[in-house]
Amino acid sequence: MKIFSGTSNRSLAEKVARKLKLELSPLELHRFPDTEIRVRVVNGDLEDDVVLIESTGIPANQNYMELFLILDALKRSGARSITLVSPYMGYQRQDHVFRDGEEVGFEMIVKILESLRVDKLISFDMHSVKLPDVFTIPVVHLSALPLFAQKIEKETVLISPDMGGIRRIKILSELTGSPFGEIEKDRDLATGSVQSSKMEGDVKGKNVALVDDMISSGGTVKAAVELLREKGAKKIDVFATHPVFAPGCDKLLADLGVEKVYVTDSIEVPEKKRFENLEILSLADLIAKELK
Ligand code: R5P
Repeated sequence: MKIFSGTSNRSLAEKVARKLKLELSPLELHRFPDTEIRVRVVNGDLEDDVVLIESTGIPANQNYMELFLILDALKRSGARSITLVSPYMGYQRQDHVFRDGEEVGFEMIVKILESLRVDKLISFDMHSVKLPDVFTIPVVHLSALPLFAQKIEKETVLISPDMGGIRRIKILSELTGSPFGEIEKDRDLATGSVQSSKMEGDVKGKNVALVDDMISSGGTVKAAVELLREKGAKKIDVFATHPVFAPGCDKLLADLGVEKVYVTDSIEVPEKKRFENLEILSLADLIAKELK
């Protein structure tokens, strides 16, 4: 088996390779002044099973293009099979038509990946449990919830910031034995602004773990934290698998006054976006186990 990585999440790829007692195989990656990218597999004639570790956080479009080009180069260099480890897949929230006239971005990404002959995909906490069904290739859908469960203290109430996360919160509740509740969230599809006005579950005087799949603008977490405070929550910890962290999100989270924000390294958080109460849990062990 050979492991490759582009530039999107090299530190996670290096950790996985170390755990498998392998080294990352070399790739040449050149960016032209006009933003085009050229990729070359340095030691051609692979004739091997290949693993490519690439995430598609910010900048999503550039990272996807890099991923497509690497896949093409790997196949042309004789890769016997390609397992794509994409811990976070951009465009997954565009999984159906919300308003007339829209594309379905995620379906389009799946078509491209399959046409580039990816044999198997490993990903984490996809936006919906139905997303693996969009693929015709096997998809291993892993979760960071067991890592989160280790950080959640007894007597904590688990809260999903929207109805879409209720399945996730029930799984975590089974792992921790904690009670759970959910918030009703409304998002304006044109502006993206979020309102959280109602919730089910009693948080008065309790420690709360707010659990989501991703944090992008931070709007969902902010609205949820404000409501939880109104309802009398004591200590609030935030858990989210994917730190998408759009511009301004790091400051918003740092200023939120919650105890801790736990995320994973599904997306690499650059040093300048890290803040004091951010803790990054690594998915490397779970990925290495799956690849063994
Ligand atoms: C939405 O359904 C997701 O589960 C997240 O709550 C959402 O994508 C987070 O985005 P943002 O941080 O921009 O509110």
